[in-house]
Amino acid sequence: MAYEVRGVVARSKGAPVSIETIVVPDPGPGEAVVDVQACGVCHTDLHYREGGINDDFPFLLGHEAAGVVSAVGEGVTNVAVGDYVILNWRAVCGQCRACAKGKPWYCFATHNAAQKMTLADGTELSPALGIGAFAEKTLVHSGQCTKVDPAAPPTAAGLLGCGVMAGVGAAINTGGVSRGDSVAVFGCGGVGDAAIAGSRLAGAGTIIAVDIDDRKLEWAKAMGATHTVNSKETDPVEGIKSLTGGFGVDVAIDAVGHPAVYEQAFLARDLAGTVVLVGVPNPTMKIELPLIEVFGRGGALKSSWYGDCLPSRDFPMLIDLYLQGRFDLDAFVSETIGLDDVEAAFEKMHEGEVLRSVVVF
Ligand SMILES: NC(=O)c1ccc[n+]([C@@H]2O[C@H](COP(=O)([O-])OP(=O)(O)OC[C@H]3O[C@@H](n4cnc5c(N)ncnc54)[C@H](O)[C@@H]3O)[C@@H](O)[C@H]2O)c1
Ligand SMILES: [Zn+2]
Ligand SMILES: [Zn+2]
Repeated sequence: MAYEVRGVVARSKGAPVSIETIVVPDPGPGEAVVDVQACGVCHTDLHYREGGINDDFPFLLGHEAAGVVSAVGEGVTNVAVGDYVILNWRAVCGQCRACAKGKPWYCFATHNAAQKMTLADGTELSPALGIGAFAEKTLVHSGQCTKVDPAAPPTAAGLLGCGVMAGVGAAINTGGVSRGDSVAVFGCGGVGDAAIAGSRLAGAGTIIAVDIDDRKLEWAKAMGATHTVNSKETDPVEGIKSLTGGFGVDVAIDAVGHPAVYEQAFLARDLAGTVVLVGVPNPTMKIELPLIEVFGRGGALKSSWYGDCLPSRDFPMLIDLYLQGRFDLDAFVSETIGLDDVEAAFEKMHEGEVLRSVVVF
């Protein structure tokens, strides 16, 4: 028996989202239905609505969520009804060429539910990042469910499902930030602030937050930034160099995804340093860099898909650190909202008024 629930749908490019009745099928083999308890509003949801990811409208938005498994399909063994889980968009296959090389965090064939959720008229929905969690229930592959300690409230735990994990992982996994390193993070939204918090967790000595909005820079300090640069007022490359003995940082993280910002990150890096791109550019963007500088500066230019995380390894670990009071997930939650408030939350995100709005059910 299928379920009918309310969900947030982007029907066409750039149009405001609407609340629709969603039909969620019973889980088939390998699938699970999850009662969503909280789901954060990530900038990637807005990218979907703007048509910046692909044209597979209508999208069922939401992908940064925690909840309780309410039904499982045949053959599911990793979770059971009643388990408290964070949803992930990296259900590793174990068999593709990345998994075969022992690098499952790059898995090229991640699992999603085989069945489709639909609108009431049968129109198939594309769930954002294969999740679609701005809905009271969602259908996922069981591998997209990672069990964590239920002592962590869903408003906090859900954030690990995307933005916070992407940011922490961009610093620790992709950037390899470690004790004593200097780091600059460009763009201090949920993802950038998580990169700052992750850098602090990893023992970075100097953590420079760069944004064009002073409010964001204030919040970044609370997350662990040791210095801030408003790149509207100060040339960030010069600003960062002056804070690092004229050399630049060991790791420069672009959490915006814009060519001008990427170039700043590239130039604000010390010799043999690492640039990490975790912000998502749109398909029309291009960069132009002097190739001699790419060679001459050495180091690494890396991209970070989902913070190169392995959900089964990283979610329970970060939840433990949260419960021990060493990693403040609650600090990312600016407000809790209802399902009807997602469009308003996009507006607030756009205006820089929030780090994370979290839908609670
Ligand atoms: N790689 C991944 O796996 C992954 C996962 C989640 C999100 N993302 C992407 O990360 C990016 C950030 O997401 P978010 O949810 O933190 O967004 P957000 O809108 O909350 O934050 C973006 C921040 O960038 C700042 N900013 C904008 N233009 C800037 C500029 N020119 N220079 C400096 N700062 C600038 C804004 O003031 C804001 O503070 C988005 O592109 C999102 O799609 C990537
Ligand atoms: Zn794989
Ligand atoms: Zn996201």
